[in-house]
Amino acid sequence: MKSSVSERSGGASYLRDGVRNWLQDLRRTPFARRPLPPGPPRRDRLNGHLSEIRELGYVRAMRLWTDTYGSLVMTYLGPPVLGRRLLVITDPAIAEQVLTQEERRKFLLPQGAPMVFGDKAVFCTDGDAPIHAERACLYARHLTPPLLRRHSALMREIWDEAIERIATIAVGASSARRFGINAEVLRVAQRVAIRCWLGVDVCEREAHEALERYYDPGSLLSQSFFDSLYFVGAAQRVEKLRTTYRPILERALDRIVALGDRWEDEAPELGFLRRSLVHFGWDLARLGAADGGDRRALLDDLEIYRHIFSAMLPAVGSTGGTMLFLLHYLGCDPGLQDELAAELAGADLLDRPRPTPLLGRCIKETLRLHPEAIGVSRYLDQARELGGFHVPAGTFLFVHLHGLHRDPSSYPDPERFDPARFVDPTAAHGGRWAGFSLGRMSCTGRSFAELHISHFCRSLLARRRARVAAGEPLLDNDYQGSVTLQPRPFEVEFEWSRMSRETGV
Ligand code: HEM
Repeated sequence: MKSSVSERSGGASYLRDGVRNWLQDLRRTPFARRPLPPGPPRRDRLNGHLSEIRELGYVRAMRLWTDTYGSLVMTYLGPPVLGRRLLVITDPAIAEQVLTQEERRKFLLPQGAPMVFGDKAVFCTDGDAPIHAERACLYARHLTPPLLRRHSALMREIWDEAIERIATIAVGASSARRFGINAEVLRVAQRVAIRCWLGVDVCEREAHEALERYYDPGSLLSQSFFDSLYFVGAAQRVEKLRTTYRPILERALDRIVALGDRWEDEAPELGFLRRSLVHFGWDLARLGAADGGDRRALLDDLEIYRHIFSAMLPAVGSTGGTMLFLLHYLGCDPGLQDELAAELAGADLLDRPRPTPLLGRCIKETLRLHPEAIGVSRYLDQARELGGFHVPAGTFLFVHLHGLHRDPSSYPDPERFDPARFVDPTAAHGGRWAGFSLGRMSCTGRSFAELHISHFCRSLLARRRARVAAGEPLLDNDYQGSVTLQPRPFEVEFEWSRMSRETGV
């Protein structure tokens, strides 16, 4: 029997950590006397540069700084004691050096009351913390080639059916116009994620509720920066995580118990949960016991929900966001859709569960322009020389992917969507492209995400063509309300593809 993880109320520890870090900084590095990279003057010492971020959004504020001050910018978030010193990096060589060599990793905020960030974070973890390596191992074991083939079959089934609903075209009509299909696409992405990682199917309402949870960490992040009472909201959001996933977890447990040793042949997608339960110290036999004691304890245990959510968040947010941005670009380019449809029609994604060459380039180009992660952070616990500057210990290094990917010396005419840039694979080398990050801390779920996007495109283009009104701008949410970049709702028109019209399929 395992005791549940209790939540700490941590306003005090937040303050304590802030003061401790500040004192350590002062002791270790007399940084005031050494050169620092240039940065924008602080308008408000109490908030650091948060007010600019509040006004402009994360991406745009940081772009403004890097455009003005260069590819290394020192900035400050929050007041001196609690705040964070942040080195914003858009120089490819330094980005590569930092991402591939830097061992440690932390999110921007210290571990606080709701334990949604930091060492025990729902998603981002400290690279030195054991949970990081353990999680990576659990993910990797669920993404082996045979399991990817299994995921591929599930994705195909779900998307084939879902696309029919999303792009519904009444008999006789040649096209259907849809505005803001974002939530629908994300809901299907959510359904696929739950099916592949927890082995159960969910209804519309459950998929919808789980999708609501995806928005919580984003709102929490904004609250923690801008709202001094964020602890209250945090506790409620964490509790909702448990309530939402509880019935889903219950059904998954029922399946695990009912299938017994047959799970590996009949439902290998249950493997992630089975292995995770063993990893967290639960006795599978006792979870099926008639008295139900262990089962109740598990269903109350917040740690397991956090763990599950660490797969759900990127499998829905980052993956679904990429699908939506890509859909917009496809909708602007009928020729590209035909080319991609032909390539995907000839591919066997069940046997070779990975993106086809042109699609691989489209995914790279979409993530170049719209990196789902605003940037990748690393925590410096020792002072370093970077780009000729002395960067003190205690600084967060922040590789700003948006700026990095739109550097005209890496990618001429950087605002234009052009998958052909990556025909030469070296175009992504030298730290110029880091859509899934680089090095040992890079994304563990890349193969899953790319396969998922492949199925979305295959199912869509097998029968439909998307059209986005000419000149409709592609706007994004700039990280307001979500932790991944999402496009603002846009209008798409779905038509029968020529092939479908001719063959009547
Ligand atoms: C298009 C979709 C995705 C994109 C663009 C993406 C991108 C990223 C990026 C940039 C990082 C940061 C790595 C670093 O700190 O160096 C990351 C980390 C990670 N990703 Fe993904 N990701 C995607 C999908 C997924 C999926 C589907 C999963 C799992 C199901 C996943 C699991 C993870 C994990 C576990 C980490 C490490 C988190 C940590 O411990 O800090 N990702 N991803």
